[in-house]
Formats: sequence, C-alpha cells, structure tokens
Amino acid sequence: MSSFSVFRSLVPRLGARYSSHATVRQKTLTDIKKLYKAKEPLAVITAHDYITGRIADSSEKLDIILIGDSLAMVSKGYASTLEIPFDDYYYACKSVLRGVNQKFVIADLPFGSFEASVSQCVESAVKLMKLGKIGSLKVEGGFEHGEQIKRLIEIGIPVTGHIGLKPQQFNAVGGYRVQGRKAQDAANIIKEAEYLRDIGCSMLLLECIPHKVAQYLTEKLDIPTIGIGSGPGTSAQVLVQADLLGMLDSPTAKFVQKYMNFHSEAVNAIDHYVGDVKSGTFPNIETHSYPIKEEEFEAMEKILQQDH
Ligand code: KIV
Repeated sequence: MSSFSVFRSLVPRLGARYSSHATVRQKTLTDIKKLYKAKEPLAVITAHDYITGRIADSSEKLDIILIGDSLAMVSKGYASTLEIPFDDYYYACKSVLRGVNQKFVIADLPFGSFEASVSQCVESAVKLMKLGKIGSLKVEGGFEHGEQIKRLIEIGIPVTGHIGLKPQQFNAVGGYRVQGRKAQDAANIIKEAEYLRDIGCSMLLLECIPHKVAQYLTEKLDIPTIGIGSGPGTSAQVLVQADLLGMLDSPTAKFVQKYMNFHSEAVNAIDHYVGDVKSGTFPNIETHSYPIKEEEFEAMEKILQQDH
C-alpha cells in the first residue's frame, strides 16, 4: 500500500472523531414557532467558527444557533462590529455551517452589507442564503431599514429584527448602553417592535432594554422575542458562546452568566502538556506512537546502507 493510500485509509477513522455523519433533519422556523406556541423557553447561543458550530450543534437541548457579527470582536479581534469586511463574515459563516447539521441557524447581515440600498441588501442576503442551512437573517435596525427588511421578506427570506441596543449603531448612541430607560425611548422601542412585526419579521432580538419593557413587548407581540441583557421575560435568551464558556480573559457585561472558565482551563491544560513534553512523559510509545515491524526497520537500514 502506498503511503498515500495508508493515509487515506486512516481518514475515515480520524474523520469520525471530528464530524457527525448522522442523517438528522435540520430544525426549521416551523419547529421554532411550535416551541414558541407551546410557551417553551428557547435557548440560543452564537457560533463563530467550525469548532463553536460543532459544540453548539452537539447540544441536545439548544434550540437556535446565531452566527452573530459579534464574531468580529470576539473571534477576529476587531474593535467593533463595524470593521469586519463582508467576506470575512461570509467565510466565518461557511466554517460554522460546515459544523452544523441539526440546529436552526440565524445569520447576521454585517455592517456595510445592506444599508446603501434594497438591491445591496438583497445581493448580500442572497449570497448568505446560498450557503444553505441558514433559516433566517438578522437585520440590526427597525424603521431605518424597513424597505430592506420588507424586500427580504417578499423574496422569501425570514427576517429576525434586532432593536434596543444596535451595536452596529453604537457611535450614534454614545457607546454600548442600555436603551429605553426613559418613557419616550421605551415607547419608541415598542413602536419599532410593532412596526417590525407588522412588516413580517419572524422574530425579534431585544438587546439591552429594561426587563419590564422586554416583557411588555413579548406579551404584546405574537412573534418570539430573543433577549440579551433584557431580563427573563422574553421568549428566548441568547448568549455569546465565548462569554458563556469563559473563552476570553476579558471582563464580560453584567448580563452574562459564565458557565465555565474555558480560558483558564485551557491555559492550565497547555501548561500540563508543556510539562509532559519537557519531562518526556508525552508522547508515550505505547499509546501515542505508530510501530513499524522489526523486519521492515532492518530492511530500511539495509536499503540505506546500499544507497551509500
Ligand atoms: O452578534 C451577536 O452575537 C448578537 C448578540 C446580541 C447575541 O447579535
């Protein structure tokens, strides 16, 4: 057997460790609506690449994966979501989607890919939808992007609205601040939510608004609300996966619940590995190495001697 075919014969075994070949049906908007109608609280997390896509897709209980443009800051290191080029976001979506088989997926329209015109918006949206596996596109904004949102819905793309704090517009509101604390601001958020519902949005993400306003809205609307930093009264909750797993060593917002400290566990694991390499306990001949038959090794030595 050539070394190439030996390697090829290993691939299915290696592949089986990293990817699921199970034929599962991917969840649809109809599945999500059924859960919403049954008043089941929905859980959403973000995924930003193949690994986090696999982790999210492997959770039996999770309902929705959001390929949030937060990936610009969290996994690409940009200072804001404004800075990520569309193509970088697009390639990140491709990576996530290769890891997703079963969950309903929402993807973002990143900053700069939809604001200029309805046709720019449709072009970006079609490019993303052609990746397959995306069930809804999220548009940050309300009244200001109404024409774009209406057109997407007309051409059969379910839209998730995103109001309250709109990180793509953080410059206009002086930073990442809670929105809707004053009566008029809260009333504007309610009107914007009703507008988005009326033009056909399937779901609404409510970011950083007072919990009473989020609950009021959720009770008033007949579409699922996905809350982040908006209290327990929404139909769904979303967290950025890197926040909930403690993947970064930077402080998180007040509304984040960390369920593990991945960053420090990972650093400890790396130090453990380095210690094993330096002490010679890794790799172990029995468990981590591939043998060669004695006669093959001797024959190799003979070949080398003849060649000299
Ligand atoms: O981009 C994102 O991850 C978001 C968060 C609000 C969840 O939209």
